[in-house]
Amino acid sequence: MKLNAMLLVLGAALSINAYAQAPIVIKFSHVVATDTPKGQAAERFKQLAEKATNGRVKVEVYPNSQLYKDKEELEALQLGAVQMLAPSLAKFGPLGVKEFEAFDLPYIFPSKTALYNVTEGEIGKGLLKKLEPKGITGLAFWDNGFKVMSANKPLHSVADFKGQKMRIQSSKVLDAQMRALGANPQVLAFSEVYQALQTGVVDGTENPPSNMYTQKMHEVQKHVTVSNHGYLGYAVIVNKKFWDGLPADIRAALDKAMKDATTFEKAIAQRDNDMALDAIKKAGKTEIYTLSVKEQAEWRKALLPVQKDMEGRIRKDLISAINKEAAK
Ligand code: LMR
Repeated sequence: MKLNAMLLVLGAALSINAYAQAPIVIKFSHVVATDTPKGQAAERFKQLAEKATNGRVKVEVYPNSQLYKDKEELEALQLGAVQMLAPSLAKFGPLGVKEFEAFDLPYIFPSKTALYNVTEGEIGKGLLKKLEPKGITGLAFWDNGFKVMSANKPLHSVADFKGQKMRIQSSKVLDAQMRALGANPQVLAFSEVYQALQTGVVDGTENPPSNMYTQKMHEVQKHVTVSNHGYLGYAVIVNKKFWDGLPADIRAALDKAMKDATTFEKAIAQRDNDMALDAIKKAGKTEIYTLSVKEQAEWRKALLPVQKDMEGRIRKDLISAINKEAAK
């Protein structure tokens, strides 16, 4: 065999061997604490993925905005600086996929079953597909929960919101929601919320209890209203080029690990939020108030029109398709 050909074969063998030795690294960045539904599921995915691939894949989880804050993390994913994220569904608008803000519409999901009808059905699949032109592949929907409102004054009636500066995620629907209540919406990165509440840059905010408790927001908020007026959940996404470039057996093993981590995540989400609300109560620094039936009706009257107002942005047919699916 000619020397050149032998060198070529040797070179190829060496690089295959080098490739086989160096694990494929998945940097999984997110903005919440580890002891949250998303934080725990990211760790679970790490364990499952590394086990299923016999160490050929190494998952590095970076919680608490250690690597990137909200806006930056999506840019970093598109650039391939990180391989995996699980941003809130409220944060896809700036990426140009406004339809994801449908998940922010007040009272659009009467229950978790209604939510899963949408995320696990054709609507969910269709929404994830819309990410591909952005160089992103959607793998799964992860759950957090229904949101509570908080401030340093009681928020019982709609009138209580008047003039309150309320922190929101970067969603036009949430902006409209707060304005419909008479409040002033302020978009802030998640990692900046605690300090903004502490210093009075904002008066209040909304989030599921697990985020409120693990970020210690309750320590700087005297009042929480259990309103369940809206939902917060996630899409687990990867850099498309990275994902398509994986060996087929590795991708199949990661898909399975993601499915199992997703089942785990959905199983702990409600439990974690219930435990967090209890812990906020036990901490004794925050008054927990649950809306009366009459007050709920007043909030609904003020907030349901947001669905109509957002038809231009989110598409009327999508909103009615979600309402139909959620009503099943
Ligand atoms: C927020 O910014 O309030 C949430 O999206 C944070 C998260 O990822 O749960």
